Amino acid sequence: MTRDALDRAAVTAFLVARHGDAVCDSAIEIRPLPGGLCSEVALVTARLRGAAGARRVTLVAKLVHGTAAREAAVYRRLSRSVGRRFSPELLGAERLGRGRWLLYLERIEPAHAWPWADSGHTARVLERLARLHEETPQGAALPAWDYEAENLAMARDTLSLAERLPRGEVPALARALPALRRVVSALPAMRRQLLAFQPLGRAVIHGDVHPGNVMVRRRDGVVEPVLLDWARARMGSPLEDVSSWLQALGYWEPEARRRHDTLLAGYLSARGLPPALTRPLRDVYWFASASNALAGALGHHLAMACGASAPGVLAAAARNAADWLRVIRRADACWS
Ligand SMILES: Nc1ncnc2c1ncn2[C@@H]1O[C@H](COP(=O)(O)OP(=O)(O)OP(=O)(O)O)[C@@H](O)[C@H]1O
Ligand SMILES: [Mg+2]
Repeated sequence: MTRDALDRAAVTAFLVARHGDAVCDSAIEIRPLPGGLCSEVALVTARLRGAAGARRVTLVAKLVHGTAAREAAVYRRLSRSVGRRFSPELLGAERLGRGRWLLYLERIEPAHAWPWADSGHTARVLERLARLHEETPQGAALPAWDYEAENLAMARDTLSLAERLPRGEVPALARALPALRRVVSALPAMRRQLLAFQPLGRAVIHGDVHPGNVMVRRRDGVVEPVLLDWARARMGSPLEDVSSWLQALGYWEPEARRRHDTLLAGYLSARGLPPALTRPLRDVYWFASASNALAGALGHHLAMACGASAPGVLAAAARNAADWLRVIRRADACWS
C-alpha cells in the first residue's frame, strides 16, 4: 500500500469522523490484501473505546487511480439505485488528488473461501446477476464510457500483437488467426446484434465478473454472493457478465465446463425466461464472449507469451491464449 495514499493520518481522520474521538492511532492496524493489477486494497482494523466499552471495527480501504478511479463514481451513483444488495456498502470516498480516490468499503466476511466446495454458489452468482440486470433499467446514471470504441481499439491491438508473435510461441494461433481477423473486423456489427438482442437488451452490468471479484457471505443465515470491484460497470449486454462468469469458472473448475449449458439456462430461468438455448441466443452469447476476450484477456496472454523467458510461463500463457482463441473460433463460426 502506498504510504502517502493510505497513511495512518488519512485512515484515523476517517475513523474519527465516522465514530467520534474514540479512536487512538496505535489501535489501528492496516494490512494489505492481495489484489488485482490496478488498485491497492487494505483491511483496516481499529479498536474503539466508548462509554459502552471497547469494540472492534473493520473496513476495507481501496486506493483507485487511473482508469480504475471510475469505481468511485460508480459506487456513489449505484448506491442510490441498486445499493448494497449487490456490492459492499460504500462508507466513504476521499479525493486525494486528480484521478486518485480512497474508497472506504464495508468489509465482507467470506462464508467460504474460493475455490468454493459448494457448486451451488456458482449458480447463485448467476441468480444475483439476473437480479442486478433486471433491477437496473436503462438510463441508470453511470459515469460515461465509450466502451465500444475502447473494445474495438483493444481488439485491433490484440490482432496486431497476434500477427507479430513469432510462429510457434502460441501453437493455437496458426489455426485461429484467420478467425481472429474476421472477428475483429466484424466486432462492431457483432456488438450491435448483441446489444439489440431481445428480451435481454441492455442493462447495467458489472463488467468484470470473475472469482477474484465475487465473495460469498452469510447474511441472516442465508449465503449470498457479493460483487466487488465495480470500475468496469457500464451499460452493456447482460450476456457479457454471464459469459465472463462462465468462461472464468471453466478455467478454474472443469466441472463448470461440463455444466456450462445448464448454468446458462439457469440464468435465463432466473430472468423469468424459457431456459431454451436457441440458435440466436447462442450466437449472441459467443459474440459477448469474444468481445470479452478482445477487451484485454487474450491480448494479456499473448503479451505474456511474447515476453516470457521461462518455459513454464510461456506454456501457461500459450494454454490460456488457446482457451480464448477457442472462444474466438466459436464466435467466428456463429457469425459465418
Ligand atoms: N469489501 C471487501 N471486503 C472484503 N474483502 C475485500 C473487499 N474488497 C476487496 N476485497 C479483497 O481484496 C481483493 C482485491 O479487491 P478488488 O477486486 O476490489 O481490487 P483489485 O482487483 O485490486 O482492483 P482492480 O481490479 O481495480 O485492479 C478481492 O479479491 C478481495 O479478496
Ligand atoms: Mg478485482
